[in-house]
Amino acid sequence: MKLLVTGGAGFIGSNFVHHILRTYPDYEVITLDALTYAGNLENLKAWEGDTRHRFVKGNITDRALVDGLVAECDAVVHFAAESHVDRSILDPGIFIETNIVGTQALLDAAKKHTKRFHHVSTDEVFGSLGPDEAPFSEKTLYDPRSPYSASKAGADHLVRAYFHTYGLPVTISNCSNNYGPYLFPEKLISLAITHILEGKKVPVYGDGLNVRDWLYVGDHCLAIDAILHNGRIGETYCIGGDGERENIWIIKKILEILGKTEAEIEHVKDRPGHDRRYAIDHSKITRELGWQPTVTIDEGLARTVKWYQDNQVWWQDIKSGAYQEYYEEQYIKR
Ligand code: NAD
Ligand code: DAU
Repeated sequence: MKLLVTGGAGFIGSNFVHHILRTYPDYEVITLDALTYAGNLENLKAWEGDTRHRFVKGNITDRALVDGLVAECDAVVHFAAESHVDRSILDPGIFIETNIVGTQALLDAAKKHTKRFHHVSTDEVFGSLGPDEAPFSEKTLYDPRSPYSASKAGADHLVRAYFHTYGLPVTISNCSNNYGPYLFPEKLISLAITHILEGKKVPVYGDGLNVRDWLYVGDHCLAIDAILHNGRIGETYCIGGDGERENIWIIKKILEILGKTEAEIEHVKDRPGHDRRYAIDHSKITRELGWQPTVTIDEGLARTVKWYQDNQVWWQDIKSGAYQEYYEEQYIKR
């Protein structure tokens, strides 16, 4: 089997490329990635010179490029996206371009060549839960509240439209917050770990009581693998980590692992439109495909902290680039 993995130089995409090439010795992967600020060839350097992997630098909105690559492959696994909520608040336009227009370019190519298409989406399309509301499931109505989640919702609707209208063999997954190796240090867990290692304080938005359902990235890759191979065509699967925690709990746990105190926490202005709580009911994928999360939040955080301690050059290179400019801008503009 030959897969086209879009966004494979990013966080989850690169973990997925590693998973596929290690698990299936007879598979080949073409990674298509524009290498935006979030893409990093270092994430894929284990496959340099390996004939089973080919990297193509390019944009998913480039229809001619996408058409040729899709034609070569058996299936598309689509990760490429602008993925950070705070950046979507600063500049929504690129989110529409990549996440919606780019997804449509891929769908048109998959339709032309009749290829299997798996679309990686997010639980943020469902909006925000109250403390006593049932977790999101495949039956939850869409209610996106940030430019990021609205763009992902638009893409999800297009994918379903290509299934219903043209019979394209699609599946969709809506997943909760991932963490683990290669998480770009703008997201809560990687930002907290790297800030602490640099001796900086960790910025907590608002009261720190917002809840996310944390999923170790390796478990997410196993879920996508299961859907790609055994998922029912036209279906959506919700993927969660059974890891609901308040942000402040996560930060305190990281401080504890690193032997630091709560004096390293700094409360900052809240994110505009900040969703209060996400949680996923993953019973459908568990029942149909036998998948469930295997890494607890305590174990996953311990592994992740160790990865950032062992890979300081990786994140220091990122943080010494254009990162600082973005980081300051988001607080000034808020
Ligand atoms: P990421 O930001 O780490 O990586 C995105 C990758 O896409 C980067 O390598 C980037 O260079 C590439 N890319 C961006 N625009 C592109 C374009 N126009 N053409 C080609 N490549 C482009 O993101 P991630 O966290 O790995 O997320 C991957 C996917 O999973 C996204 O679709 C995201 O919406 C979804 N998702 C993420 C999470 C999470 O917690 N990180 C949770 C649920 C769903
Ligand atoms: O739920 C899935 C989504 O999870 C994905 O679709 C997105 O691509 C991914 O970025 C992530 O979105 P979040 O906005 O939930 O993740 P983030 O790591 O940015 O923030 C997690 C929580 O931590 C959120 O409540 C905001 C808060 N936060 C974040 C940062 C970066 C802080 O308190 N301080 C911070 O510095």
